[in-house]
This record gives sequence, structure tokens and C-alpha cells, in this order.
Amino acid sequence: MSNVGDYTAVREDIKKILPQPGYDDGSAGPVLVRLAWHASGTYDVHSKTGGSDGATMRFAMEANDPANAGLDKARAFLEPIKQKHPWISYADLWTLAGVVAIESMGGPIVPWKPGRSDKTAEDSCPPNGRLPDAAQGEQHIRDVFYRMGFNDREIVALIGAHTIGRCHADRSGFVGPWTYTPTRFSNQFFIQLVKQNWTPKTVNGQTQYKDDADELMMLPADLALIKDPKFKEIVDIYAQDKQAFFNDFASAFGKLLELGVDRSSQAKL
Ligand code: HEM
Repeated sequence: MSNVGDYTAVREDIKKILPQPGYDDGSAGPVLVRLAWHASGTYDVHSKTGGSDGATMRFAMEANDPANAGLDKARAFLEPIKQKHPWISYADLWTLAGVVAIESMGGPIVPWKPGRSDKTAEDSCPPNGRLPDAAQGEQHIRDVFYRMGFNDREIVALIGAHTIGRCHADRSGFVGPWTYTPTRFSNQFFIQLVKQNWTPKTVNGQTQYKDDADELMMLPADLALIKDPKFKEIVDIYAQDKQAFFNDFASAFGKLLELGVDRSSQAKL
């Protein structure tokens, strides 16, 4: 048990659970990043509902949103850390785990502040269906991310997180990794997106895209980033300039994790 507020001790314990031999590519990192993103990405800037505050994915209604399939694994990886440091909220733990995972996989340092609390009733869950649908294109992506308060450059930077991890037949139904280095945070997603020749392939009844060697994959939503001229301009920048991607990703991901967190009372202190 650590002292209340010892976030360094929590960070150290998160680092210790990242190596997971026998799970996926040997790291819990990618699924922890997806948990932090899905906990935050339900935010609606107009109604100011959803977002990372509350850790409402603990409740069945949000946990069972089909978009969140597989995130029970991420929550289970973190549960022993919550037991060891009971003073930290789940909402802070889930977002901090995403930040520590990115940093440990070689990514940028993402700004993170504690202060989220856990809501206690299921009726505080945002409605299902607010997270993006991988089968759709640029209009849908803009609708969903503008609703969270992001602009085009932030959208492209954020989706660059697909440089890590993979799709799972038993979760989304899509299959495969986006890069050859799914446990290293880099700009490889953008490099592969512009370099490879992507052709459609039906997997589990859904269209995804394959490279000529059929080793990597892209989702229809990923390909929208090179079909849409405005998105493509930003993809080209990130494919050539890893530092530009890291800088933009760090600020956009930091902003994502703050969605729905009301800091007005804390600011007055
Ligand atoms: C248009 C937006 C997006 C769509 C449609 C989308 C869709 C998906 C899908 C279908 C998967 C596969 C899930 C599975 O089968 O395990 C996935 C995985 C993942 N997504 Fe996204 N995503 C989007 C944006 C983002 C963003 C903004 C982030 C983070 C900043 C992110 C991070 C990840 C990560 C790290 C994984 C890998 C998880 C693992 O390896 O278990 N995604 N995404």
C-alpha cells in the first residue's frame, strides 16, 4: 500500500504489468491505451456529458457497448494496482495507465493531471454508440471527433495511436496489426499508410484493407485519412517527421484525457 497521492509509486506498478508474455505481442500497453481513449472519447462538448471523469465503463451498460469489447482485459490488468493503491480513482488510474504505456513503449511524455472521481451509479453512463465506427469514412470521423472538440490535425494525430496494437477477431471482428512494431510507439502507422498499396479484403464478413504481402492491415476509417485531401496533408507531415507527430500526439492525447473533467473548483484553490 502506497501513501495517498504517491502517483510515482502507481506509475512504477503500471510499468511492471506492461510485459505480458503470452498475451498478444507480449505487452499490455496497447490495450491500456485503448482503455484510456474509450473512457475519454464518449465526451460531447455540447451537453458536456461523457468523458474520462467517472470511470463509468465499470458499469455493465457502458462495458457492454460493442465498441468496448475486449477492454475487460485492460481493466483486469489494472485491478491489482487499484487494490494496492486504493486511494486512486479508477478514472485517474485508467488515464494514467495510457500515459505510462505510451511513454514506456517509446512514445512522447503526455501531460496528465489527477483529480478525476468515480461515479457511483449506472445512470451516469453516456449513451452507447458515441465511439467511432471503423467501417465508416471521413464524414463520420469528423462528426465524432468534432463532437469531442477536436480539429482535423488533432484527429489525424490521435488515430496515429494505431501504430501500436492490433485488431482481434473476437473483439471488433477485424484482424491484424497496423505495423511491424506493434509494441513500439512511433510514426510507423503513417509511414505504412502512405507506403503500402492497400486493397480490400473481407475478414469475418467485414471489409478491411491489406498490403500486398498481406501482413499488415488498415481499417476503412484509417484509409479515410489518405482519401480525404485535408487529412492526407497531415498524414504526409507525420510520415516524414516523427517529432511533429509526437508533439501533436502528446498535446491531443493530453486533451483527450481531460474531456469531461471539471477543474473549475480546483482552479480556484
Ligand atoms: C476513427 C477513429 C478510430 C476507430 C474507428 C478505431 C477503431 C479501432 C478498432 C476497430 C480497433 C480494434 C479493436 C480490437 O479488435 O481489439 C482499435 C484498436 C486500437 N485503437 Fe483505435 N480507433 C480509432 C481511434 C483511436 C484513437 C484516437 C486511439 C488512441 C489515441 C486508438 C487506439 C487504439 C489502440 C491502441 C488499439 C489497439 C488495442 C489492442 O491492441 O488491444 N484508436 N481501434
